Amino acid sequence: MLNIAVLVSGSGSNLQSIIDRINSGSINGVIKLVISNKKEAYGLKRAESSGIKSFYTEDESEIINTLKNEEIDLIVLAGFLKVLSKKFVNEFSGKIINIHPSLIPSFCGKGYYGKKVHEKVLEYGVKFTGATVHFVDENADTGPIILQEVVPVLGDDTVESLSKRVLQVEHKLLPKVVEMYCKGKIKTFGRKVVISE
Ligand code: GRF
Repeated sequence: MLNIAVLVSGSGSNLQSIIDRINSGSINGVIKLVISNKKEAYGLKRAESSGIKSFYTEDESEIINTLKNEEIDLIVLAGFLKVLSKKFVNEFSGKIINIHPSLIPSFCGKGYYGKKVHEKVLEYGVKFTGATVHFVDENADTGPIILQEVVPVLGDDTVESLSKRVLQVEHKLLPKVVEMYCKGKIKTFGRKVVISE
């Protein structure tokens, strides 16, 4: 059974998708901790409702120490809108995953977060976008890609309609990756991630 920590900044619907998958019995892991860098994040309430220990802090050293003390095996960034320091990433190398609401390497990196991603997608006029789950390295959205799924952009899409459609895919992809990680099915060879059956 792996110990999981989920870091959030907002609504926490991706956190909820992992909680639901754990409750259905398909993830060989337990969420020991939810941490938010935003006091008002609804994700903290979701954690509380599910009886998961949670707290708010903006202090990265406090986060690192807590993750170590709780012997966390997997750190999931689920709508966590802060780039982690080199120190943080090195400390938990290969154990941090992130969900990003586009097909990396498009519409990602510095300045591309939350609704801004979808705004840029619509502005550019691409016909397809999607969601990506990737390992976290020391730069924004550049770590090895684990899983991606394509979402079509429709002619009458708004930021709201598109983000909603992408979010539905995020809710499938993220728990799926957590499940595979907990089963030891994900192997990394440089940038290449191989998922075994
Ligand atoms: C998601 O689209 C996530 O990919 C992005 O911000 C949104 C957060 O949603 N970084 P939630 O907090 O999980 O509901």
